Amino acid sequence: MTSLVDRKVIVIGGSSGIGLGVAEAALNCGAKVVIVSRSPAKLQAAERTLNAGHVTSLVADMTDEADVARLFEEIGPFDHLVSTAGTLPPGDPIGSTDMEAVRGFVDNKLIGAVMLSKHAVRTLKAVAP
Ligand SMILES: NC(=O)c1ccc[n+]([C@@H]2O[C@H](COP(=O)([O-])OP(=O)(O)OC[C@H]3O[C@@H](n4cnc5c(N)ncnc54)[C@H](OP(=O)(O)O)[C@@H]3O)[C@@H](O)[C@H]2O)c1
Repeated sequence: MTSLVDRKVIVIGGSSGIGLGVAEAALNCGAKVVIVSRSPAKLQAAERTLNAGHVTSLVADMTDEADVARLFEEIGPFDHLVSTAGTLPPGDPIGSTDMEAVRGFVDNKLIGAVMLSKHAVRTLKAVAP
């Protein structure tokens, strides 16, 4: 397995669920991890759970382009980006679907991922040959 020692890994959605698990696994492989989500309280709780010196957290909403741009400026050069962020899809019967909720879901899952990629390429380190 490729070593993550001293690699900087950003985990969007790292304050809970799958992202928190990814953050823990990356830390166990020696990475320096930045966890990102919208809620400062969830990030603080996640930092306590991870209980490691190599984790930092930043608040950002991946559906907000100014937030995403600021995030990558603050972090600087990095090696890996993981995004598990998202919400559950609206679960109403199709006949009573709230289209605003559908748009919000797509914004989070799809538009957010494109926006992250757009701004990440500026500071993503090239892989050494
Ligand atoms: N767990 C499963 O078995 C499973 C199976 C299939 C699919 N999924 C999907 O995989 C995704 C992650 O699942 P999970 O179980 O890890 O969910 P989770 O525990 O709710 O975690 C979602 C993470 O994403 C963050 N987040 C959500 N929207 C965000 C945004 N706009 N900007 C930044 N961070 C955001 C949340 O923090 P904040 O609230 O603080 O922003 C949280 O850290 C979800 O879309 C889920 O539907 C999960």
